Amino acid sequence: TKDGHSSFMAKEIHEQPEAVRRTLSGRLGSDGAVSLGELGISDKALARIQKIVIVACGTASYGGQIAKYALERWCRIPVEVDLAHEFRYRSPLVDDRTLVIAISQSGETMDTLMAVRYAREQGATVLAICNTVGATIPREADGVLYTHAGPEVAVASTKAFLTQVTATLLLALYLAQMRGSGDPTEISAAARELAGIPGRVQSVLAGAGQIEALAASMADVTSVLFIGRHVGHPVAMEGALKLKELAYIHAEGFAAGELKHGPIALIEPGQAVVVIMPSPAASPVLHAKMMSTIQEIKARGGRVIAVGEEGDAATTADALLTVPASSPLLAPLLTAIPLQLFAASLAGAKGLDIDQPRNLAKSVTVE
Ligand code: F6R
Repeated sequence: TKDGHSSFMAKEIHEQPEAVRRTLSGRLGSDGAVSLGELGISDKALARIQKIVIVACGTASYGGQIAKYALERWCRIPVEVDLAHEFRYRSPLVDDRTLVIAISQSGETMDTLMAVRYAREQGATVLAICNTVGATIPREADGVLYTHAGPEVAVASTKAFLTQVTATLLLALYLAQMRGSGDPTEISAAARELAGIPGRVQSVLAGAGQIEALAASMADVTSVLFIGRHVGHPVAMEGALKLKELAYIHAEGFAAGELKHGPIALIEPGQAVVVIMPSPAASPVLHAKMMSTIQEIKARGGRVIAVGEEGDAATTADALLTVPASSPLLAPLLTAIPLQLFAASLAGAKGLDIDQPRNLAKSVTVE
């Protein structure tokens, strides 16, 4: 049931603090030590890994792109992220020292399953990050890390995405702790911060009313651009995907640094641009660059909606959707939420069925 919410999607968005708590449960000690006892892949096998390839589709692939930043920084292992349907058609370099991570909410996405089969044929070790216990992808993989988000009914992925990101962060912390890689101070701080994320997710949800009002004022927009840097880039792409699939509004997500290499030609008076702000304290250089990007957009009459930390000076934006402060690699767990609310509210303002968007199925079981 919808538990008093207007849709399954609204319910699932509001379940996210609890869902993330379940992903962390029993895996993150109070001392910050991560244990993934149930993984099914030995530490010996994980210690031999020289390369990671993440395969996934859609929202799960954006989760994978976020994971790349944490895995490379903390584990010092090169990471590629491939759309599962592209993977086996490009002669990928995969061998018995490659860990292939397949991320899938349903565990039944045919494109991702075929990538898993191909990777195993090449001798890779395959780890599934999956929400559905006992699904085909985790059954065919060497090991699995379940997200335990609970059933996701709405077609658009929300709590599954947040828990996929949480699970990959746990995995990155685990590998770093086991292999002794990365900066130990940063890694233990990140582990402690992760433990407090469910409470911060809850506080972002408290801003839903402001986002609904903003969306109601935008029900007639025909195009929205989303830009971000660093992990804000995949978050921007996820925000654009949510808006396309729920509100049927043309949207594009791209790296903010690309703006001047072409897309700035799209900025005309009234063009809405959602900007995922880097943290002013944790990423001052990227924050400053994003402030000048906002100036570029404003100078051409664009309408800027910033998603940024409380107290961010980016108030040159026309609207600021706030999230609590966080370290850069954990920020997507917070900045993705206003974008989910924005897409759902805009779709609602247009009178659309957000649980069952046209032309889409919950699980894509054809290639
Ligand atoms: C978007 C969405 C899809 C799925 C994609 C992969 O909101 O839900 O993009 O993320 O189809 O599905 P799974 O995770 O089941 O493999």
